[in-house]
Amino acid sequence: MEQEKNMNTSAENTNQKPARKRMLSGIQPSGDLHLGNYLGPLRHWPEMIEEYDCYFFMADLHTLTVRQEPAALRRRVLTQVAQYIACGLDPEKCTIFIQSHVPAHAQLGWVLDCYTMFGELSRMTQFKDKASKHKDNINAGLFTYPALMAADILLYQPDYVPVGEDQRQHVEICRDIAERFNGIYGPVFRVPEAYIAKVGARIMSLNDPGSKMSKSNLEGCVTLADKPEDIMRKFKRAITDSDTERCVRYAPAEKPGVSNLIQIYAAATGKSYEDIEKEFEGMGYGKFKPAVGEAVVELLRPIREETERLLADKSYLESVYRAGAEKASYFANKTLAKVYKKVGLVAR
Ligand code: TYM
Repeated sequence: MEQEKNMNTSAENTNQKPARKRMLSGIQPSGDLHLGNYLGPLRHWPEMIEEYDCYFFMADLHTLTVRQEPAALRRRVLTQVAQYIACGLDPEKCTIFIQSHVPAHAQLGWVLDCYTMFGELSRMTQFKDKASKHKDNINAGLFTYPALMAADILLYQPDYVPVGEDQRQHVEICRDIAERFNGIYGPVFRVPEAYIAKVGARIMSLNDPGSKMSKSNLEGCVTLADKPEDIMRKFKRAITDSDTERCVRYAPAEKPGVSNLIQIYAAATGKSYEDIEKEFEGMGYGKFKPAVGEAVVELLRPIREETERLLADKSYLESVYRAGAEKASYFANKTLAKVYKKVGLVAR
């Protein structure tokens, strides 16, 4: 994984022994986790817990910006906890929690709303995109979402935020908000950097390679819970390009469909783009598409099986997210208290 190079300003006490660098990230349980979520950020998280002090959460408050079916939301949050663990996040080595279990997120979110400008929120591409898709429900939460996301991040003073390419703008605005706040009150927040993978950071839809893979287009989206036959069907039907060349070559501008499949195959197998081009030289798309499907089936099989096993043990999952919320709250409340004091709120 390649990280962006621009050093941040530290708000930590420099007299202390240097602690492990910290990372934080979250995923919205607004639909089943999909291959984009997995290949973009999630599959890198288990390596990170060995080196960094990591916090990973279910961004359930964020899902409320779009109407949710309550029972389905609860089920997805629990499934996502199981999937985090099944993907290799050892709860003994990192902190796994549910956003709404740590009230400091909403509390700091409000404060940061007051340090975030209307103009900058209006420029957010995700807001524009979601507002155009949910015209009947362009609510205030959808608009101020980036300030809550900034709160999610800044509460934990992380060095890095591992995300996919589509979240880069939200990490940028988080940095701007932190710098604005620090500019007024001194170094309260560490200003974090986005941490974006080189391969897999923008997985495109299988049936519409011009759009990113997302929960809103199920046929173009492979979820972590999909059965092998469904995964194979989606890959066999994947849109490839109408060029006459019909060879497996990585060229995102000319051949977005095939290039997306190459990216997925590379991320799933660890092979380079050049090796993949050689492997399928002289073969048409007909051989390539099922090969990518099979690689993904094998990649996701252990995750699906382990998730099912974990979901049968609800008390274990509960113990994980309870312990996570406790640890996260301790850290988050410290930052929140500092912020409240700085802005002039009376301590209780
Ligand atoms: P969300 O839930 O849309 O996506 C979760 C993560 O998956 C990445 N991702 C993708 N990566 C590659 N290809 C794709 N097609 C693809 N689709 C999604 C996203 O970039 C993200 O890393 N606002 C966030 C959730 C959030 C958050 C946070 C993240 C809330 N607070 C604090 C980090 C830190 C979101 O909606 O991601």
